Amino acid sequence: MSLHHDVEEVLLDTDTVAARVTELGAELVRDYTGRDPVLVSVLKGSLVFLADLMRAMDLPMSIDLMEVSSYGSGTESSGQVRILKDLSKPIEGRDVIVVEDIIDTGLTLNYLLRYLGERHPASIKVCCLLDKPARRLAEIPIDYRGFTIPDRFVIGYGLDYDERYRNLPYIGVLKPSVYGGAPPED
Ligand code: IMP
Repeated sequence: MSLHHDVEEVLLDTDTVAARVTELGAELVRDYTGRDPVLVSVLKGSLVFLADLMRAMDLPMSIDLMEVSSYGSGTESSGQVRILKDLSKPIEGRDVIVVEDIIDTGLTLNYLLRYLGERHPASIKVCCLLDKPARRLAEIPIDYRGFTIPDRFVIGYGLDYDERYRNLPYIGVLKPSVYGGAPPED
């Protein structure tokens, strides 16, 4: 069955996302020319964003990938952060840009920023595609922000529900009926 069937509403279509990612890339190029930054991204949700963002940045840089888990298979943050995959190279003295798909409670990134800070990078900035401020529990300095979105559970463009829907090319709102919420009115 088509994945689109489970989408209640397209929040940000493919062209809108692509245009904003291009703008973010240009902002980063403007700020990081001559600095050889390392983009540290958090698997798996940020994969699609990272892939597009790095290609919008025409400057010498490298990437590194971490994997952390903060969610189980539900749609609520557990507040627990576990490192499943660590950095592959030291970041001491490097200009780090943390590339995140979405900041919801902020608990994941709050933990991660402290963890990365202990490795003595020259600088750390945060670039997130989606900011969902409604449920923020930890204050996060967001230096580069794609979109601010309402408090709804979104999928696509890398974001999942129970490991599904990451391959949707746009960002959509999942029908609550899929995760056992109230059935959509129609
Ligand atoms: P936080 O710790 O609550 O900020 O959550 C961060 C992580 O939760 C993100 O990197 C996502 O993997 C996941 N997450 C938060 N909100 C959503 C959503 O609306 N859809 C899919 N994943 C989400």
